[in-house]
Amino acid sequence: MATQKLLVLPGDGIGPEVMGEVEKIVGWFTRRGVAAFEIERGLVGGSAYDAHGESISNADMALAQAADAVLFGAVGGPKWADVPYSKRPEAGLLRLRRDLGLFANLRPAICFPALAAASSLKPEVVEGLDILIVRELTGGVYFGEPKEIVTLEDGSQRAVDTQLYTTGEIERITRVAFELAKTRRNKVSSAEKHNVMKSGVLWKQVVTRVHKAEFADVELEHVLADNCAMQLVRRPKQYDVLVTDNLFGDILSDIAAMLTGSLGMLPSASLGAEDPATGKRKALYEPVHGSAPDIAGKGIANPIATVSSFSMALRYSFKAIAAADLLDKAITNVLAAGLRTADIQSDNTHVVGTAAMGDAILAELERLSA
Ligand code: IPM
Ligand code: MG
Repeated sequence: MATQKLLVLPGDGIGPEVMGEVEKIVGWFTRRGVAAFEIERGLVGGSAYDAHGESISNADMALAQAADAVLFGAVGGPKWADVPYSKRPEAGLLRLRRDLGLFANLRPAICFPALAAASSLKPEVVEGLDILIVRELTGGVYFGEPKEIVTLEDGSQRAVDTQLYTTGEIERITRVAFELAKTRRNKVSSAEKHNVMKSGVLWKQVVTRVHKAEFADVELEHVLADNCAMQLVRRPKQYDVLVTDNLFGDILSDIAAMLTGSLGMLPSASLGAEDPATGKRKALYEPVHGSAPDIAGKGIANPIATVSSFSMALRYSFKAIAAADLLDKAITNVLAAGLRTADIQSDNTHVVGTAAMGDAILAELERLSA
């Protein structure tokens, strides 16, 4: 049985609570012989700042570099509102993305049949929804330089963020999107603002060129990012794979999350380039939701997005497809049986806390594999 090193970074707020449930599930898959998962733990975000004065320490960065996969909870909270910008909790996550080269962020938005009524949209609009947002994660306005606030001669200030993309950055994320579309419904929609932004003009040109040269058998459409936001709440099922830049991807994936019923449902995978020698990719798995400080410590947070993120780790890092399918099935069944955390409750459902939801998923794993 291959040993696989997992670095668990629970972070802040509800991060440690939801990650606790994932650790139980990791243990279950180790006992089932899927892999010998070895768990190391580190600090990120505000909890790292409190311990080391940095949002992630160099020692934990080294563990992340050496891990087969990083499991990330959530960062941030009002406690750290006045921490210097470079040490704010989010900086730890951005450093992980940048230093590990995690340029491809996969955010599937799947509406579980049992949750169609929990969405703020009409059930018929979201029922059966299965889209995949492929967000560029290491470029664009998040990392472009200059990025600064300067004081002008008259004492007023000017803030600058730089939206910047190169051909190579667009090509590699485009290829990820097309490769994934081939395993799904064979359609890619590229969202950009080519009507206003030079980076949008280049984005559209490069996606079009890569499509023609390498993926002509996959359907491609371009959509303006603002129109895409509207289409996502109007008729989301028109999309299969949606490829977009870092900032638009951040916004569009929050919209997509609510289509599924709750932010507490959306997992994500952040992948680096394949190492030609080993065939492996650096990878980090995290829920799309944040640290939810308002409910932290109450034991009521929804662990499903984080558990599903581990399912993505099984699928993408460990090629344990049957195990990932089993875990996804266990989640579907638990929801179908009417079990809910508070964020996804509706009529005739049974509301449970974080640990009970984790235990129910474990029990269902047992039952399915008995
Ligand atoms: C996300 C989050 C992050 C982002 C924050 C926490 C820095 O909103 O992963 O979507 O903006 O990328
Ligand atoms: Mg976001």
